[in-house]
Amino acid sequence: TWTADNVVAAQMELIREQVGSDQVICGLSGGVDSSVAAALVQRAIGDQLTCVFVDHGLLREGEAEQVEVDFVQSTGVHLKVIDAREQFLNALAGVTDPETKRKIIGREFIRAFEGAAREIVADAGDKDGDVKWLVQGTLYPDVVESGGGEGAANIKSHHNVGGLPDDLQFQLIEPLRTLFKDEVRAVGVELGVPDEIVWRQPFPGPGLGIRIIGEVTAERLAILRQADAIAREELTRAGLDREIWQCPVVLLADVRSVGVQGDGRTYGHPIVLRPVSSEDAMTADWSRLPYDVLSVISTRITNEVRDVNRVVLDVTSKPPGTIEWE
Ligand code: XMP
Repeated sequence: TWTADNVVAAQMELIREQVGSDQVICGLSGGVDSSVAAALVQRAIGDQLTCVFVDHGLLREGEAEQVEVDFVQSTGVHLKVIDAREQFLNALAGVTDPETKRKIIGREFIRAFEGAAREIVADAGDKDGDVKWLVQGTLYPDVVESGGGEGAANIKSHHNVGGLPDDLQFQLIEPLRTLFKDEVRAVGVELGVPDEIVWRQPFPGPGLGIRIIGEVTAERLAILRQADAIAREELTRAGLDREIWQCPVVLLADVRSVGVQGDGRTYGHPIVLRPVSSEDAMTADWSRLPYDVLSVISTRITNEVRDVNRVVLDVTSKPPGTIEWE
């Protein structure tokens, strides 16, 4: 029978067998999946694990700090932070196709992990050393939707599955690969991962990069980051965090519409709110949020965020829409 402690025990044994005395790195995003995967591997092999947080510049406001406070402080795991903001922005310059963006982001993640692995070896002063293993928090739905499951179509390449480069130098450890999100949360609780992480809403590895429809630029990221922070703040204030699965905030960067502010004409971008309810992200329904909450979010975003003059609500279920727009 399926219980969280069975999963933990079985995976710990498997991980120990696989890696022996090798060094292992784990990409940490601050999200549920990578945190639970890291906690599991840490339980299995302790100090052989170093977590790597890649700041790719596609993060939401406060995210980098959150990882430090919520995860690193409570687990005492070794953490290496890699500033890859310029690297990712350069790689994404001029790119608008969603799958191409996903593949580039997947590839740049791996390049960042390779850089981190070299630094870890150098720090240890181990000339012949090598980091062979990379832990990823891949879940079963990621595998299915990336076309990795039996008979599955490639709906989108998740950054940690369909987006990996062919010349991957690491062997992968994916202890959550057969699990759904609710099971991952149960495993997280079993491992003592803090509530702030276990109950965090999902956020995609490619981050805000796939929530800007059009080219990703530093300026557009700043606009979206600000709008997203407002939406999250108001949803939290309204006590809706556990009720909704997640609420992507999307910037239609190549669309403009006419508006009016004071005496003047504006010609700005729309922001899309995409609140959904779901059990496992394989299917979803749009959340019937209270109008007064939507109203506050809309007013604040159009007042406070430069270049945004319209807020629209996505009322599409999955299928036929996916949760993220790209
Ligand atoms: P879609 O858009 O496919 O999203 O309906 C389903 C769930 O997966 C999240 N998502 C991702 N998570 N890497 C991730 O770690 C990715 O590349 C990725 N793409 C989508 C999405 O936020 C939703 O919860």
